[in-house]
Amino acid sequence: MEENIKVNEAATKTAALTVKNLNKTLGKRHILHDINFEAYAGEVFGFLGPNGAGKTTTIKVITGLLDIDEGSIEIGGYNLKKHYEKALGSIGSIVENPEMYKHLTGMDNLKLYARIRGVSQERIDEVVKLVGLSNRINEKTKRYSLGMRQRLGVAQALLHRPQLLLLDEPTNGLDPAGIKELRDILKTLAHEENICVLVSSHLMSEMELMCDRVGIINNGRMQGVYTVEEMIRANAGDSSEFIYNVDNAAKAAELLEGVEYTLTDDTHFDVIFKVENVEEKLAELNRRLIENGVKLYTVSPKEKKKLEDVFIEITQSGGVQIG
Ligand SMILES: Nc1ncnc2c1ncn2[C@@H]1O[C@H](COP(=O)(O)OP(=O)(O)O)[C@@H](O)[C@H]1O
Ligand SMILES: [Mg+2]
Repeated sequence: MEENIKVNEAATKTAALTVKNLNKTLGKRHILHDINFEAYAGEVFGFLGPNGAGKTTTIKVITGLLDIDEGSIEIGGYNLKKHYEKALGSIGSIVENPEMYKHLTGMDNLKLYARIRGVSQERIDEVVKLVGLSNRINEKTKRYSLGMRQRLGVAQALLHRPQLLLLDEPTNGLDPAGIKELRDILKTLAHEENICVLVSSHLMSEMELMCDRVGIINNGRMQGVYTVEEMIRANAGDSSEFIYNVDNAAKAAELLEGVEYTLTDDTHFDVIFKVENVEEKLAELNRRLIENGVKLYTVSPKEKKKLEDVFIEITQSGGVQIG
């Protein structure tokens, strides 16, 4: 039953953004090389890469701030070159810092913008609620924290009901609480409002918590698009490691025939089990140790490789094969 639901979900995925063979030269430098990816309605897509990788350039091309040299971009089904206005009408974005009048309230800022775009008061109230600013919206924005300004920027970008919300490094400069608030809002927008949210970042740790999928860009090339789970699996290899804490590691070592292990100190050793039947192998080894008089205090899984390291490995090796 559950599997059927998943199949149906996959079948109904709608591409909010399709980028095909995008190339961009700035001055004399070829900055973007054949960038290809799709982002779907209902997901937070992370655009991840070190500084200078080409994230901002890609986002500027998608938002029409820079021309396409080669390749094609479709937004909400509209080709950006052929149907420029309709394509851009499907986007809400914050590329630089959100623009606002500091001497006006949050509400007045939104009203100004809404008037230009012909947006109703009802929609303004709706977006204010979506970004969690209801109780501060009538304060002047000069009293807002950076996080609140960022959220007002998101509200403004959402006014015209875009299918695609594009944010270039939106958590830069925010404190941890501000980052969490923004993260929760973006996830809600994607998962409950079915918007495609595309955020860029140079931090894997941040993308891991915020995104459903991550596209990794380096030196202007897309190295691959992965779910966070795929990244972990691809780099975890096919074995699991456990740390054993015992009274006497030397005595335990005599009982470790047929087991791959490393002695750490007098009371600790690490065991590596290949991926099949890990639990059975653990149970068997534990029994063997206890039956032979070794005091077994704790067995703990060794900490998995940090995703930040995985990201660095992927960008340095030019991508990993996932399959
Ligand atoms: N106007 C420009 N002319 C020449 N090179 C540029 C220009 N703007 C950006 N670049 C270069 O393009 C590369 C990608 O920059 P950018 O898209 O800003 O990267 P990111 O946002 O990932 O940090 C960098 O090497 C940057 O120096
Ligand atoms: Mg940038």
